[in-house]
Amino acid sequence: MARHDVVQEAFTELAPHYEEAMDHELGSFLGLSYMEFVETLLQAPAVKEGGLILDVATGTALIPRRLVDKVRGLTRVVGLDITPAMLQEAQARLPSRDSSSAISLVCASGMDMPFAHAVFDLVVCGFGTHHMELSRMLSEMRRVLKRGGNLVLVDAGMPTWWRSMWARVLLKAGLLVYRLGHRNARAQAEVAAFASVRTAGEWHTLLVHAGFVDVDIAESHTRRSWYPHALTMRAVAGAGSDL
Ligand SMILES: C[S@@+](CC[C@H](N)C(=O)[O-])C[C@H]1O[C@@H](n2cnc3c(N)ncnc32)[C@H](O)[C@@H]1O
Repeated sequence: MARHDVVQEAFTELAPHYEEAMDHELGSFLGLSYMEFVETLLQAPAVKEGGLILDVATGTALIPRRLVDKVRGLTRVVGLDITPAMLQEAQARLPSRDSSSAISLVCASGMDMPFAHAVFDLVVCGFGTHHMELSRMLSEMRRVLKRGGNLVLVDAGMPTWWRSMWARVLLKAGLLVYRLGHRNARAQAEVAAFASVRTAGEWHTLLVHAGFVDVDIAESHTRRSWYPHALTMRAVAGAGSDL
């Protein structure tokens, strides 16, 4: 996991054109536009239940903007991110109409969130988990969710064959070459984030261990067999004590 300052530097550079860059990257990896990706995330049944929603690593807050447009009975969406420049972009892109008053933005880490226990009905996170230490992030997400609350995560996942010995060696060498060849903060942050890219099976174990039940993980293949997969993880906050 990259140091916070490296992550902040990477996304400060990217903030002004983040959504265009995401459109390009998702197009090449998944063959999906950024908007299509957000729409698939919002199809999750849990999202339709509304209530108080938290979007962790919200970036330019496209997910909260789509949520207030799509979800009836939505009380409020809180977008949390560690990079001030991404939140400034988010603020600038909030629609001026009433619906944006349902969105609030918070600058903090998803591994140490400034919220009370058991306040949210739904926690979502799109392409942010790989920048965090997963067990700390999941225990924070479990802590701020009400018992029975829903979790929806989407991120790059590791195909199981990447765990084979020869694939590990190849990946290590590939990451080293990439890190030496790309000195910019984004490259350094993404290489460091690689440690948090997990297989569907490993994610299942992490979620159950963090107190989630009814774990459902969908794996969508990408445009090249050797590319990372896209994982959509859905789970429910278990009956663990609401601390
Ligand atoms: C690839 S962007 C994803 C943005 C948005 N969720 C989306 O779907 O496009 C990753 C975001 O994670 C944020 N981030 C990285 N580490 C974080 C942390 N520890 N806590 C909160 N946000 C973090 C970055 O600032 C960046 O805005």
